Amino acid sequence: MTPEEWKGKLSAIKDSFSSLISEHKADYETLYQRFLGRKGELSLLLRDLKDIAAEERRNLGVLGNAAKQELTAAAEKIKSAIDAHNQRCSSAPAIDITLPGVNFPKGSLHPLTQTMDRISGAFLRLGFSLASGPLVEDDWHCFEALNFPECHPARDMQDTFYVNAKDDRGKDKLLRTQTSTVQIRVMEKQNPPLRVFHPGRVFRNEAVDASHAFAFHQVEGLYVDKNVTMADLKWTVDAFMKDLFGSSVRTRFNPSYFPFVEPGAEVDMSCIFCKGQSEHCPVCKGTGWLELLGSGMVHPNVLKACGHDPEVWSGFAFGCGIERFAMLLYGINDMRMFFENDFRILEQVR
Ligand code: DAH
Repeated sequence: MTPEEWKGKLSAIKDSFSSLISEHKADYETLYQRFLGRKGELSLLLRDLKDIAAEERRNLGVLGNAAKQELTAAAEKIKSAIDAHNQRCSSAPAIDITLPGVNFPKGSLHPLTQTMDRISGAFLRLGFSLASGPLVEDDWHCFEALNFPECHPARDMQDTFYVNAKDDRGKDKLLRTQTSTVQIRVMEKQNPPLRVFHPGRVFRNEAVDASHAFAFHQVEGLYVDKNVTMADLKWTVDAFMKDLFGSSVRTRFNPSYFPFVEPGAEVDMSCIFCKGQSEHCPVCKGTGWLELLGSGMVHPNVLKACGHDPEVWSGFAFGCGIERFAMLLYGINDMRMFFENDFRILEQVR
């Protein structure tokens, strides 16, 4: 073999060694046997040096030994990586299939969402359909069209938060104080007959305590058709309450004032806790009744504001706070519990 041939073989061996490594095709044992072991390609090549003329042999020997060191180091690096990996695997604890599995906590709907769903179910069963409206409202939909003219004293009870933006009439936009806004939104777009409800968030500038919050929820129902009477309102509200609280509850209407209805009434439900039997009932305070809803016959001014003739159409509306319902349904006595999001409370309502 000429020295040139010998060098060519050496570089071919180095090339195939490094391509095996870069393609991750060989483990330590294979590499060692193929290149470095007693019959390995490199070992045999080094042995061939004896046939080469003495003056060239020394130089080639230096090259050959350097290559041997290089390949040995590379093969050993792979071996130690594999050893470390094996070590890690063997020291990892064995899987004990008899241990109980990991428990993933189950989520649940917030009590207010559950209450809204129950209320929505009751409305849907009565043939009402879901309507929607924005949280950031204008003065017209929140007050003016609902027959609260500017400076009307009934506006005092519904102070709210104003937004730095003007509505179409140049008035500041505001966070809606009541879901009754959706009455106007629907009647402006749709002609009667209509039967809609809307559950949603409302806002008021309130000092927070056990029964007041600056953001809370209401639901509103509206029915407009020909010849709708107070009797329809009474039947519907009674059926609605019976659906939610059971067929033994009774309802009673007390005259009340809301600008957008005439006549207006507050609706009480018989106390579901003491059934009117306890003078000391902490919920109804011994009266036997719980005040739950506002209601009434849609005011002619409201129909007119939405472009409908009050001589042709009549309707009723009723609305209530959802937190109040949820408090009764789940026996919660402080409204703040709904937005403090304490898991100890939320977990009890599933
Ligand atoms: N929007 C009223 C409030 O926030 C509640 C209400 C009263 C709604 C009477 C009605 C109604 O639809 O007829 O106090």
